[in-house]
Amino acid sequence: MCYAIPGKITSIDNKFVTVEYFGEKKKAYNEFDNLNIGDYIYAQGGYVIQVIPEKEAISILNTWKETFFELQDLDLRLSKVDLQNKINDKYFLTILDKALEYKNISDNEFLYLLETNDKSKLELLYKTANFIRQKHLSNSCCVHGIIEFSNYCKKGCIYCGISYHNNNLLRYRMNTDEISEVAYKAIEEYGFKAIVLQSGEDSEYSIKQLSNVIKNIKQKSSVLIFISIGEIGKEGLKELYKAGARGLLMRFETSNQELYKKLHPNQSLETRLQHLEEAYKMGYLIITGSLIGVPGQTNNDILNDIKLTKKLNAEMYSFGPFIPHPSTPLANNKISSNDEILKSIAISRIIDPYNAKILITTAFETIDSKAREQGLLSGANSVMLNITPDNFKKHYSLYPNRAHINENIPLQITNTISLLKNIGRAPTDLGF
Ligand code: 5AD
Repeated sequence: MCYAIPGKITSIDNKFVTVEYFGEKKKAYNEFDNLNIGDYIYAQGGYVIQVIPEKEAISILNTWKETFFELQDLDLRLSKVDLQNKINDKYFLTILDKALEYKNISDNEFLYLLETNDKSKLELLYKTANFIRQKHLSNSCCVHGIIEFSNYCKKGCIYCGISYHNNNLLRYRMNTDEISEVAYKAIEEYGFKAIVLQSGEDSEYSIKQLSNVIKNIKQKSSVLIFISIGEIGKEGLKELYKAGARGLLMRFETSNQELYKKLHPNQSLETRLQHLEEAYKMGYLIITGSLIGVPGQTNNDILNDIKLTKKLNAEMYSFGPFIPHPSTPLANNKISSNDEILKSIAISRIIDPYNAKILITTAFETIDSKAREQGLLSGANSVMLNITPDNFKKHYSLYPNRAHINENIPLQITNTISLLKNIGRAPTDLGF
């Protein structure tokens, strides 16, 4: 399976190319030297990542041809919304009307949505967000793979199961060859076109070593690489960009300064935000967001989290529920609800209707076995599969009972593709 459709270059304007997919045109940033009009390419995250021979491209396009339009059709049918229904809360309906017309929605109105708990109203909110997603981004859905290469962490975040406080955890560290091999296999054997290299904040790996891993992967394969290894500083970010990384996954966790301090002893929100801003300036695609439902968080905080994610120019929004881990100081707190996450997804879609990729996080899938389907039908359009080797992934214990922990990669892929097909989504990331 391949998580991309080949597109044909129809025009070149400096570093940007226009790519055509079955009549639809998208733009992508090009870093290849000899690209010509008429060439076939794969794009991911708005980057050209691979040039492919015409014959191969045409053969792949032929296999996609019918499915592509069938999926779009199904998606269109599933994303209809009808505001003429039995709900008689005028204020609520006016807010959704504004969302559909891209009119300005005030903070109080967003808070009203976040405070809603009525099932039929929520259903309408989710459908509205799904309609907006379909209208602007059609049925493409990113499928990224994540490799968790080390669970050592020098940070003491009080909610996190791999923080250095947790003495009950078996720690592992993949060596640099193992990381490259796992990535290589994910790309060549399983067809991933975008991968995330994640670890705790582990100083055992030097920036040079990580650069070499990235260079190694890029030399052998065509892929978009995200890093997710915590705060490595401006120089670190620069080096890894030079090596070929093009994305950064780093949540700011909460936009509330006071709450941030409580959750992250000896760390600063300002530093974290600086990292995200620097990375964006350097050209990294940003995946960021927050933890929803941590003790002390208010709906106002959640709204600010969503707005901050947009302000940070996120290419992808990542909101996951807080799940108490038994070996952390927050062990006895309550788990967040699936509606809290669905509301965050739907409001993110309303706040960033045209561009946002919104992720279904594994934490969400952990608290709700229907998370993927529900989330994708509430404004989201991205999933991430865990491609960490089975012997390691059970020790990457951010929170207990992680979803998919007992599913090997082929099974995860089969299940994902089948779900996407059922709801009319194509596992592609076509550019912008
Ligand atoms: N519950 C949910 N998510 C968690 N993370 C860490 N600990 C938990 C938890 N207990 C998330 C953080 C981090 C990501 C890698 O894992 O938000 O950004």
